[in-house]
Amino acid sequence: MSFRYDPFDPAVMADPPAYYRVLREQYPVYYLEQWDTYALSRFADIWKVLEVNDGTFVASEGTLPSAAVLAAHNDGPVPDPPLHPLPFHANFDAPLYDEVRRATATPFRPRKIAALATRIRELANERLDVLLPRGHFDLTAEYAGIVAASVVCDLVGLPTDLAGDVLATVNAGSLAEPGSGVEVADARPGYLDHLIPVVARRRAGEGDEVPIADNLLGYRLPDGAALTDHEAAVQMLGVFIGGTETVPKIVAHGLWELSSRPDQLAAVTEDVAATVPIAREEMIRYCAPAQWFARTLRRPFTLHGITIRPGQRIISLIASANRDEREYPAPDDFVWNRPIERLLAFGRGQHFCLGSHLARLEITIMVTEWLRRVPEFHVDAARASRPPSSFQWGWNSIPVEVG
Ligand code: HEM
Repeated sequence: MSFRYDPFDPAVMADPPAYYRVLREQYPVYYLEQWDTYALSRFADIWKVLEVNDGTFVASEGTLPSAAVLAAHNDGPVPDPPLHPLPFHANFDAPLYDEVRRATATPFRPRKIAALATRIRELANERLDVLLPRGHFDLTAEYAGIVAASVVCDLVGLPTDLAGDVLATVNAGSLAEPGSGVEVADARPGYLDHLIPVVARRRAGEGDEVPIADNLLGYRLPDGAALTDHEAAVQMLGVFIGGTETVPKIVAHGLWELSSRPDQLAAVTEDVAATVPIAREEMIRYCAPAQWFARTLRRPFTLHGITIRPGQRIISLIASANRDEREYPAPDDFVWNRPIERLLAFGRGQHFCLGSHLARLEITIMVTEWLRRVPEFHVDAARASRPPSSFQWGWNSIPVEVG
C-alpha cells in the first residue's frame, strides 16, 4: 500500500531492481506527482515508446534532467531551447539534433570502429603489463577505466596521458547527489576545461586532425552562425562522458559475475573468440549502469489507458527493461549464453547510443585479453563500491587479486 518510487530517493537507488519489480508488475505507467513525470518499466512499453520518432517525445528538457528541472511543471509543449548559446544538441528535435549528431558521428561508423581493434588491444595489454605484476588493483578504474578513457582521449584529441584525469573527472561528475541529480552539459566545467582547448587548437589549425571537433567547427546553425569554442566543446560532451563512464563498469562487473560462477567462467575461457561476443551481450544486459533517460511530450500519448499530456515527461527505466521477466526468463540470473534477441541497454530510436559499436568492441577486447592472460582472479567483494547516484547504479570500484 505504501509503495513509492522516486529516482531521486537514495533509498530507491540503494537497490533499484527491487522497486522495478513492483513497478513492472503493478504500475507499468507510474505517475511521479512531484516531477509531473511517468515512469515506464516494462521492456515492451519502452521498446514501443522509443521507436516513436514523429516529435511526440523530445528531449527539450534534457535526457537526464535534474530534479530542479523536473520540479517546474509545464502547461503545455516545451519549445526547443534558444539557439544561442547552443546547449547540448540532444535537447533539440530534428533537424538540428540530427545535424549536430551527424557532425560528432564520423569516428563511430562501423568500419572506423573496427579499425581501432589493434589500438584497443595494445592499450589493454599495456595496462595488464603494468597491473598484473602488482597482484592487487582496481579492475574498474585501473584496467577497464584507463583503457576506455584512453580511447576517448584519442577520439576527442587529448593526449593519452590525460586518461586518468578524464576518468576521474567523469566519475566525479556522475556521482550526482541522489537527491537532486545532475545538470548535463554546461554545468560540468571540469569537462569543458579539457575540451575547449582542443577546439581552440583546431580552430587555429594546430595539431592533428580531430574529426569530431573539425566537423563541429565547419557546422553552421540554421541562422548561419558558427559555433563558439565553448558551444562546440559542449557538443562533444556526449562522447566524453558516454565513452568514459559505462564500458569500464560493464567489463569489471561482467568479469566479476563470471568469476563467481566457475562453470560459466570455464565455459567462456575455453574458446574466447567464439564465446566472448556472446557473453558480452549478457554483460551489457546485466551490468549496464544507466537507469533511466527522460523525454518531454509534445503530443498526447496513451499507454495502458493512461494519457500523458504535452509538457509532461516520461522516464524510460531501461535498467528495469533489462531485467523484465516478460523479455528475459529468470532475469536476475547471469547466464553467459542466454538468448538475447532484443536489447534496450543502448536505448532505441532517435537517441540510440552513438558509441554502441565502440562499446561492444572495447568490451570484447578487454574481456578477451583478461581471460587470455589471467588464469585465476578473485574479487574482494567487501571492498567493492557501487555509489548511488540518481541515474546510475554501477560498480565504480572492484578490487581484484590475480593469481
Ligand atoms: C556498453 C556501453 C554503453 C551503453 C550501455 C550506452 C548506453 C547509451 C544509451 C542508453 C543512450 C541513449 C540515451 C537516451 O535515449 O537518451 C546512449 C547515448 C549515447 N551514447 Fe552511449 N552507451 C555506452 C557506451 C558509449 C560509448 C563507448 C560512447 C562513445 C564513445 C557513447 C556515446 C553516446 C552518445 C554520444 C550518446 C548520445 C546520443 C544522442 O543523444 O545523440 N556511449 N548511450
